[in-house]
Formats: sequence, structure tokens, C-alpha cells
Amino acid sequence: MCGIVGYIGNKKAKSILIDGLTKLEYRGYDSAGLTIMENENFKTLKNKGRVKELSELVNQESLTGTIGIAHTRWATHGKPSSENSHPHNDNSNTFSVVHNGIVENHIELKNFLKDHDYHFLSETDTEVIPNLIHYYFAQEENETKEAFLKAVHQTCHHLKGSFAIGVLSTHFPDIMIVVRKDSPLVIGKGDGENFISSDIPAYLAFTRNFYLLKDNEFAILSKENIAFYDDNLHPLTKESKKIEWNATSAEKNGYEDFMLKEIYEQPTAIRETIGSHLMAGQSCRFDELPFTKDFLNSIQKIYIVACGTAMHAGLTAKTMLENICEIPTEVDIASEFRYRKPLINKNTLCIFISQSGETADTLAALKLAKSKGATTLAISNVEGSSITREADFVTYTHAGPEIAVASTKAYTSQITLLAIMVLYFAEILEKNTSTLQDIKNSILELPTKAEQLLSNLTEIKNFAKEVYQNKDVFFLGRGLDYNTAAESSLKLKEISYIHSEAFFSGELKHGPIALIENDTLVVSILTVPDLIEKSISNIQEVITRGAKTLIITDKNVENTNFTKIIKIPETNHFLSPILSIIPLQLFAYYITKQKGLDVDKPRNLAKSVTVE
Ligand code: G6P
Repeated sequence: MCGIVGYIGNKKAKSILIDGLTKLEYRGYDSAGLTIMENENFKTLKNKGRVKELSELVNQESLTGTIGIAHTRWATHGKPSSENSHPHNDNSNTFSVVHNGIVENHIELKNFLKDHDYHFLSETDTEVIPNLIHYYFAQEENETKEAFLKAVHQTCHHLKGSFAIGVLSTHFPDIMIVVRKDSPLVIGKGDGENFISSDIPAYLAFTRNFYLLKDNEFAILSKENIAFYDDNLHPLTKESKKIEWNATSAEKNGYEDFMLKEIYEQPTAIRETIGSHLMAGQSCRFDELPFTKDFLNSIQKIYIVACGTAMHAGLTAKTMLENICEIPTEVDIASEFRYRKPLINKNTLCIFISQSGETADTLAALKLAKSKGATTLAISNVEGSSITREADFVTYTHAGPEIAVASTKAYTSQITLLAIMVLYFAEILEKNTSTLQDIKNSILELPTKAEQLLSNLTEIKNFAKEVYQNKDVFFLGRGLDYNTAAESSLKLKEISYIHSEAFFSGELKHGPIALIENDTLVVSILTVPDLIEKSISNIQEVITRGAKTLIITDKNVENTNFTKIIKIPETNHFLSPILSIIPLQLFAYYITKQKGLDVDKPRNLAKSVTVE
């Protein structure tokens, strides 16, 4: 989704802005632009295409300004074009705005402004913002900074929808105003310089001190100072947060792509996520989830709500919650949940999983569950992200920044955290301790097993080279193995653009088997002990119809009819989705590399989907 950066200091803004935009490229975008304050006038440059092209455009100009805002746009209202790119300036070129989010009532606002002789150069919803600021500023008696802030404030009160906004004005060439509601924005505090950005990694190389804005909080930034205001424009005192990540952990670390780096970071991510929640010989600990036995007994139903990969992580948690804690659990896609009138009451626990913590549908589903009286619990990888600020309870995965659009280490970390959380609930509920102990031991062994697995995967690379030209790939599994099938299918289609689907093996005969013809590739996951024989019969059925088969298993499955078997380390079967996905992440990765595509930034996709 769109990305915002801004700089105010003594250095030339242009390279700092381009650098920030480059760091935000992972969010997905189709055009980029910037405004730099040059001698009390705006220089706005923007184009359709990559940040690199914007950078070439910028380098043709001798820009020396030290204050600027910049943006990567992911088209929602109006096609990708230079007119529709941000920043957008008002008719008199005195206010320049970058915006992430959607102005839902932009047509109404456009009509209002047109009635007041404003005209529009783009098809965007955003262009109403600088013009409305101009309109309200013109009503103010004096041209003061307070009047500028009031004009931004009044404008925001007329915007329906979500926004993170950075505003410059030629009337006040030494300040920048920012505000957010339901879209991400952080402020980095430097020494004689300040930064704004949609996320923390963009400016980690410049500062470790960040302020996290809450909804409807405003800030006026100058080189030396940051002043905060609440929604009534009363001054606020805010504490900055020291970020401990080092800047290189957000870089590629010598790997060819972020996705490959992140796949290989999984042992560390899992280890970090286990953290102090689970230690050998001890009970599980979640100080941030102070639940009692009475509370958990009062929960009649759990909903796990998420999108994409995070939803797949929820599928494994459902099986564990039902089998181990005996609490009925449903997994919902957030965009469906929010509109399907789910039966929620005070005896419902709703768990929201989101790597970014900014996914618009997940956030809206959380707000809905809260309004209906459910207890809400957020699981995110990003501290201070929107869902973590809304939920009653929050716990974090510690996967570190995930940059590639296709999620890998966040997924395995999510299942790890959910598994420990289920055990924590089970301990509170005093469930069977010997089963719990076995799962706990297996969780502690996961990082080492993931390392073993990753050190021996040349076979999958070679197999990917053999099959990368396939037009369709089908993934099969039963029980927990279906979850891996669904996630692997998503990975493959999102980065390689190969048509892929996941099916429950038992459903084959009810339709999907009609798709099988000579050389169709069928990938099967075989780890759930009671279901292996049944799954093998299903695989046999597709082999009879000419399919090639790739088998991912932790068992000794000898069958000369299978085209390729990849053996993975054995673990407690509840946890097998954490290991079985790893070779299939690499399978998707190597197929994509073989096709010569951009693995980290697949077409049409965004890392963080901050609009509905
Ligand atoms: C987008 C991303 C997916 C991700 C999903 C949910 O679709 O491309 O990789 O799984 O959003 O993101 P979240 O940040 O909420 O986990």
C-alpha cells in the first residue's frame, strides 16, 4: 500500500527522501513522487513507475532544499499516472500533501470545493485534502502556524475514511504538519533533524527514537522540535520509543532477495518468538495475557480472524484449540467476518492475527468484535501497529522486519506463538499434562529442526528447475496437512504467477480430480499419522491419471510411484505445519527465480493492505 516519508533538517532532503521511499518499496506501489521546499516554493516531481525512475528525475534538477515529503502510491482512485501520483498541491501551490488511506467522501468534498471555484487536476480522492486545507486556511484571520494547524485539523474533521497525512506549506517553509487515523505513520527524532515515515525501518539508519502517533493526533515538526496535539488541539506530551533493531537487520544481509533471507531467518525467528514464553521444564508464560481459569471456562467460542497467510496460521491454532483445550473455534477471513454478522457476545474471544498489524479488514473486524462485547486479542509482528493499539490484549511474534511481500518467517512464527498460547490456555484449564509436555519439548526443538531442514534442501531447488514451466500445480492434504497445502499454494501463485489450488485430499473425487491430466504436478503433504494411508490412496488416484507427484513427509514413505519425496524432520504432529511449509516456500522461491521474476515484489500485490 502507499508509503509516506518526510524529512526536515539541515541536509539535502532529496537523497534522504529517495532512500526512505526505497525502504518502503516492499509495501507495493505503482508510482512515486516528492515535494521539496526550494526557497519558499515547492518543487514537486512525480511519475508513474519505480522509485529509481523518480530518483533519475530528481537528479536532473539541482535541488538543495532541506525539507520535503515523498510518497509511493498504490492506485485506488484513478489509474497509475504522474497526475494521480502524490504529492498533491492545492490550486495556488501553497499546500503540498502526501496521503496514505482513502477519503471515502471525496466526491461530496470535491463538489463542495468546485462550488467554491477550486478545480482538480487528478482523479484521486487525495487532491481534496490540500484544497480543503487552503479553503480553511483562507478563513483564518491571521496567517500563523496555529492557523495552519487549525486548517489541517478542520480538514481532517471533514474526511471520512482513513488517512496518514504529511503537509507542507509555502507560508511556513520551516515546518511540517502530520496527522493519522487508521493508517500508519511514525515520527523519527534526530539531532537537529526529524523524519516521518509509514514504518520504522525506513529511517532506522538515521535514528532509533520514534514517536508513535495515535488516531487523530497531530504533530508540528521543525528541525529542532516536535510539538504534539490531541484531537482538540490541546498540546500533548509524548514519550519516544527506543527501537533496538539494528539497521542491517532490515537489509538483505548478503542474500539475493529478502524472501530467501527471510526463509533462512526462520530458525532465529522461531527461537526469538518462543523467547521467555516457553522454557524447558517450566509452565508457559504470557504475562501480557493474564487469563484465569474462570475466564477461559466462560469462553463459549473463539474466532480467529485474519487475512492471507495469517489466516492459514489460524487454521493450525483452531485444530489445537479444539483438540487440546476443547474450545469450539472458527477461523474467519477478516473481509468476510466483518460483513457476515458473526454471533459474538461477551463469552466470545476473538483473536486477530496480522504480521503488519495494519491490514484494514483485520482492523475493522477487531473494532466490530469489540463493539459487540467480545474479548479481543491481537497477535502482530509490529510493535505499536494499529491492531495492537485497538485490542484488549496483545502479544507479539518476534520475527523481525519482514520485507518480501510473500510472508514466510512471520507465518512460522505466528504458528509457533499460537501453539505456545494454546498450551498456556491448556495449562490454565488443567488439561492432560503428558500431551502438553510432549508438545512443549517439540516446540523447543523446532529452531534446530528448522536449521537442519534448511541446510539440506538442494533437492527441492533441482526439482523446481524441472517443473517450473508447469501451468497448474495442485496441493493436497488432510487435517493439518491441508493448512500447509493452502499456504504453499498461496506462496506459489503469488510470486510465480502459476495457477495453483489447494484441496482437501478427501475432496478429490468430488470434483478436482477432473483437472488431472498427463504431467499435472500434484504436491502432497503427509505428516498427520492417522491420515497418511488415506492420503496415499488419494495420491495413487492422481498418479493413475498421469500426474507427477512431489511428496513432503516426515515419515518413511517408500513408494516408487512418487516422482519426488522430500523428507523433513519429524515433530509432534500439531507442529508439523511449521516444518512442512519450509521446503514448499523454497519450492515457490526457486520456481520464481527460474522464471526470472521479481520474488520480493510480485505484481499487483502489497505487503500491507491498508485499504478495504
Ligand atoms: C497481504 C500480504 C500477505 C499477508 C496478508 C495479511 O495480502 O500480501 O502476505 O498475508 O496481507 O497481512 P497481515 O500483515 O495482516 O498479516
